[in-house]
Amino acid sequence: MSQSGKSDINASTRLCAVLGSPIAHSASPAMHNAAFAALGLNWRYLAFEVQPKNLRAAIEGAKAMNFAGFNLTVPHKLLALKMMDKLDESAKMFGAVNTIKFEQTAGTVQAIGFNTDAAAIALALREDLKLKLRGARVLLLGAGGAGRTAALKLACDGVAELYLVNRTRSKAASISREIKKRFSKVKVFTGYPDREIDLILNATSLGLKPEDPLPLDEKQFSFRQTQAVYDMIYRPAETRLLAAAKKAGCRTANGLGMLLHQGARAFAIWTGRAAPIKIMRSALEKNIYGP
Ligand code: ATR
Repeated sequence: MSQSGKSDINASTRLCAVLGSPIAHSASPAMHNAAFAALGLNWRYLAFEVQPKNLRAAIEGAKAMNFAGFNLTVPHKLLALKMMDKLDESAKMFGAVNTIKFEQTAGTVQAIGFNTDAAAIALALREDLKLKLRGARVLLLGAGGAGRTAALKLACDGVAELYLVNRTRSKAASISREIKKRFSKVKVFTGYPDREIDLILNATSLGLKPEDPLPLDEKQFSFRQTQAVYDMIYRPAETRLLAAAKKAGCRTANGLGMLLHQGARAFAIWTGRAAPIKIMRSALEKNIYGP
């Protein structure tokens, strides 16, 4: 052990990493390295800027170099589905991979794809907004990778009404068709609700940059018509969407809880140990809100 309490990096150190583009904003290394140190594991977590055209090479390289696991973020989660040797039920169910476990079997290494985002969404909404999905009415903004996983999870957990809004309407329409086929009890619509709802969930990337417009068209739907607003974005910690929602009296939460819970599940998948949630949360809070 070094004086910092972390075990020294040596020839036995196991490696995990997050791959994405852009990646510089990621709080995942802070969260996972704090967790490894807390459990005295000789593991480290890194971040790599990887372009989509190089994703396959990065995964094959990780297999060759005995990495323990990867997280994937924008824009890799859908692309990776076709690059896995095996898909866990979670990745099949929600059609995206955000966690890879590299497993040695009989001298070869297999890449196994998991989805830990979907469960994390439901957990974060329950913890941070006291929201139960069963029977809820939800307006979901965004139909990219994150939006699609969220829509399927909301439907799977029995929301009563789901309204899908996206700049590219065809993507919202395609998710709507999928939900009608797979979750026929859910009433799914494309476009803004004409009634009061329980939750607005932002799964677009609007809000990451200070000059971004709101992802919500206030001429079509007002903050006064919803109880709560969740933004998957965690940096900045308060997007314009959340500031406006708070001002209108809504319960609000940023994406910290979702990041935490997807990470905690990934940690358990890689290490076989229960994730030290409190330590991971405080590492994230320090990284996102400052010391
Ligand atoms: P992720 O994996 O985070 O979902 P993504 O698949 O690139 O990333 O999706 C980004 C989401 O933000 C999409 O819903 C996208 O809308 P389009 O499907 O029309 O591309 C949305 N988005 C990004 N920039 C936007 C903008 N300037 N205005 C409106 N929506 C935007």
